[in-house]
Amino acid sequence: MEIIHISAECYPVAKVGGLADVVGALPKYQNKLGHIAKVVVPAYDTKFIRESEFEVTYDAWANYGNHHFQYRILKEKTNKLGFDLYVIHIQGLTDRPNVYGYSDDTERFVAFQIATLDWIVQWEHRPDILHCHDHHTGLIPFMVSNCIKYKAISGVPTVLTIHNAQYQGQFGWDKLYYIPAFDLWKGGLLGWEDAINPLASAIKCAWKVTTVSPSYLEEMMNNARGLESLLRQERWKSIGILNGIDSEVWDPETDPMLSKGYNLKTVETGKLANKTALCDVFQLDPSKPLFTFIGRLVDEKGADLLPDIFYTALQQHGDNINILVLGSGDNWVEGRLNQLKDIFTGKYNAYIGYNEQVSHEMYAGADFLIMPSRVEPCGLNQLYALRYGTVPIVRRIGGLKDTVIDIGDGGFGICHDQTSIWDVTHAINRAVELYNDKKAFKAVRKTMMKIDHSWDNAALNYIELYQILK
Ligand code: ADP
Ligand code: GLC
Repeated sequence: MEIIHISAECYPVAKVGGLADVVGALPKYQNKLGHIAKVVVPAYDTKFIRESEFEVTYDAWANYGNHHFQYRILKEKTNKLGFDLYVIHIQGLTDRPNVYGYSDDTERFVAFQIATLDWIVQWEHRPDILHCHDHHTGLIPFMVSNCIKYKAISGVPTVLTIHNAQYQGQFGWDKLYYIPAFDLWKGGLLGWEDAINPLASAIKCAWKVTTVSPSYLEEMMNNARGLESLLRQERWKSIGILNGIDSEVWDPETDPMLSKGYNLKTVETGKLANKTALCDVFQLDPSKPLFTFIGRLVDEKGADLLPDIFYTALQQHGDNINILVLGSGDNWVEGRLNQLKDIFTGKYNAYIGYNEQVSHEMYAGADFLIMPSRVEPCGLNQLYALRYGTVPIVRRIGGLKDTVIDIGDGGFGICHDQTSIWDVTHAINRAVELYNDKKAFKAVRKTMMKIDHSWDNAALNYIELYQILK
């Protein structure tokens, strides 16, 4: 089968969060299964794109409404990612350093989606599946089925994967003219409440809807920022498939970003070496348990509570714990996390910003990784933590619930029920107890590292899903 993944992010081309990790890995594993999976993303001004070699495969003009733009499809020459990578360059729209956050994001992603389909529709052959990821590609299922100019590909099945229903990409009906011509009576398929809603439209129009964990699928029926009733209505064509991890990129034995590689046998010495190096950089004490948080500093992740959680835990445990944070997001949270550095120097530190290298060093060097998420469709951090022998401390929600079993239930993680200061500090107390029981702690590390969360299984689940549509 030929599968075209269309996405705003793809690791290592452009990454903001887990969407990139999924789109950078799943196609590779689908190719390993003997299929042809390709990826299409916008050509941002990122290091990867600047430093890779591309050839122009298509060059044309397109338009959204009366805005004409020239676009160029560039194919990465070496196939170094394990799949064919196509980036779409649209002068003045895609060629910026960041993936999101511009006032014209609507126009950028509308143009990207139109360019993608204009290009695909003139191929001599038809792909088997168009796989859209999140709202940035959410207009594609509607356009493929309904826009007159895409009639030739209207029979190609579309699949939507919802990585996060909190973000829907709404824009006003005044921009309806951006969408290429279609029978106007079908316009209702684009909207939800008072706006054009690309995520809602994709839920209505895609042949199948998937999300990234079985628990999140159920939770969305009651918590999906206004889309609950729609999701319930389309439940019949929806399925939760748990994400995997790219076990080649995330392998503590071969990870080039670590100060020392390690495996199941060498985990104790390996983790200690990485912890020592990390503590050295961040002025922490490697003889104490190291708690970490890595992620976007937004309410969804419970980040607004982190400063108080850390303050309380550091007050309670005195000199007996270390905390290290890596993240960026809400300014208010960033500021408060920075302030704690002065209060708890030597036992707390924070790196405010995005740094892939530091994240790998932290998964390897940490003892515990905290994820007090309010919403967590899947979560990849806990999966990386497991692979690197770091105990996840998670709220029982979404993908966290599906992947972490509490030590009290014979598992390997520490789970709590609420995103609250009390629940998380209580979980930290339990973690300290586990850390002090050296034998149990070592056993838990080994158990975690043996778990296989690679994409092999999930990639197959997606293939089976596509096969139903053929
Ligand atoms: P989400 O996509 O909701 O942010 P995930 O857990 O699925 O959450 O994935 C987050 C990904 O982004 C992981 O690969 C994580 O290591 C990475 N990440 C998040 N914040 C940072 C940061 N500040 N620096 C480096 N990597 C980060
Ligand atoms: C989203 C979700 C996260 C998930 C990721 C990849 O960003 O917030 O939970 O792991 O997508 O599917």
